[in-house]
Amino acid sequence: MDMQRIPAQKGKYNLQDYDKMRETFSWEDAKKHFSWNETGKVNIAYEAVDRHAQNPKLKDKVALYYSSPDREEQLTFEQISKKSNQFANVLKKHDVQKGDRVFLFLPRSPEFYISFFGIIKTGAIAGPLFEAFMEQAVRDRLQDSEAKVLITTPDLLERVPQKDLPELKKIILIENHNETADKYIDYKEEMESASSDFDIEWVDLEDGMLIHYTSGSTGKPKGVYHVHNIMIQQYITAEWVLDLKDDDVYWCTADPGWVTGTSYGIFGPWLKGVSNVVRGGRFSPEAWYDTIEKYNVSVWYTAPTALRKLVSAGEDVVKRFDLSSLRHVMSVGEPLNPEVITWGLEALNHRIHDTWWMTETGAHIIVNFPSQEIRPGSMGKPIPGIEASIVDNEGNELPPNQMGNLAIKEGWPAMMRKIWNNPGKFESYFVNGWYLSGDSAYRDEDGYFWFQGRLDDVINTSGERVGPFEVESKLLEHPAVAEAGVIGKPHPERGEIIKAFISLNEGYEDASELLEDIRQFVKTGLSAHAAPRELEVTDAIPKTRSGKIMRRLLKSRELGLPTGDTSTLEK
Ligand code: WTA
Repeated sequence: MDMQRIPAQKGKYNLQDYDKMRETFSWEDAKKHFSWNETGKVNIAYEAVDRHAQNPKLKDKVALYYSSPDREEQLTFEQISKKSNQFANVLKKHDVQKGDRVFLFLPRSPEFYISFFGIIKTGAIAGPLFEAFMEQAVRDRLQDSEAKVLITTPDLLERVPQKDLPELKKIILIENHNETADKYIDYKEEMESASSDFDIEWVDLEDGMLIHYTSGSTGKPKGVYHVHNIMIQQYITAEWVLDLKDDDVYWCTADPGWVTGTSYGIFGPWLKGVSNVVRGGRFSPEAWYDTIEKYNVSVWYTAPTALRKLVSAGEDVVKRFDLSSLRHVMSVGEPLNPEVITWGLEALNHRIHDTWWMTETGAHIIVNFPSQEIRPGSMGKPIPGIEASIVDNEGNELPPNQMGNLAIKEGWPAMMRKIWNNPGKFESYFVNGWYLSGDSAYRDEDGYFWFQGRLDDVINTSGERVGPFEVESKLLEHPAVAEAGVIGKPHPERGEIIKAFISLNEGYEDASELLEDIRQFVKTGLSAHAAPRELEVTDAIPKTRSGKIMRRLLKSRELGLPTGDTSTLEK
């Protein structure tokens, strides 16, 4: 669909001339933005926090505006620097060493941000877990990463299967609790007695600092491993894509359990020394507009699912709020419908800039820049310094307007450096020097990229990546379920919903109470966002002769599409 193009915005942007920057930019030059370029001493926590805390002009600037229905707080760069020093001292006292995995299973709260930087200051690797994860999801991630320390709340602790986690040595509880064993550390108590001076661990650019678990189409979630070097691309994209300026107030709505919530909910703004808004609590159109109004948010980064909900809430709601502080709006995570862009122009009086990237890419890859024309439905163009293309399965580039694998030339700064514990998986992403994203797309004659869909079975529900295998495995644990096949089914507001096809064991009958029980089983065992919204009982789940579930076939049947090649189908 080629709707009317939206002309470039007028104004002074950090990236004014895309074509020129593509020609002249080099990642080597980008390193000059960092003090380590001269000192050789690197730590992303220093660049994002301590550097500003030591700068008389920035130390008292609000770094974090935190707001949730029952709590409001502001922290300056100096306060975050000191508190994260205290936390780093707590970790050291309990024997956390460089390279150890320290996981965070917390609601969005100031403590999350303080402990996150505390971890990185010790040279350890931070692993944020989405707050909605239930026992199975928590177990898989803590087992695979062999996490040594976990920071959590007494409520969430109930979902941590400690007997299955022999490597987990300490649990830090940030709220009041009744645990007395040595294993438990009281956050408040230890923070009070910890010094606010800390000798930061200087590391190599290629040393690890973050693991985000994400889903593929096969197997358990995989630990995408990022190193301190990621900061180069986070910084440059915070400048060009977020277009951040010193006096901006920035709000990224993503949860730090997902990559957008760290790369652009923490690092992007703070590497640039910009005030960052974090909102806890549930979504509601009123609360979201109110956040923009209350903090005078100028740069806003959100997602299509949320925007679609705002569209359905209606224009009357928007009109009740003063959103005049906004100057730049972006979206990520799912295809951005042209209709939503049109709504943005009318209701917000702003262009909404789509951005495309992945957990594995670490930072923006293809985006719409404020100084460029937008072609609604297109994700935009690759950032300077990045070579993106459309390739066939052997890694040969395809001509314009031909659909294929959306691919990136290996070696961009923010690229994941490995999949934790799984070197084979890492290798499997690359073909002929290209990283294959798993997305299909085409590129038009002018170099704009157009997203078409996933090439694998990964489901994108409300912008969250869900692996069908994880859901199927959980379903199979239910006593009634004999076989399960899980697909993503298109949905107007959520992008996709999860639909599960199951066959039942003998003695069970297809009844709505049973299906609801199965749904709850996934919801309370794995996580709410992974629970199938639709469950259908079917006699036979189509499988290949080697026993692999043919999700494609389930999907085309569901959508009434041609079923394609079924020659490998088990007869
Ligand atoms: C999808 C989120 C269409 C895509 C940062 C990708 C998008 C996956 C867009 C990565 C977009 C992300 N338009 N689809 N602008 N951005 N996606 O790892 O399928 O949670 O491969 O990273 O989301 O999801 P992830």
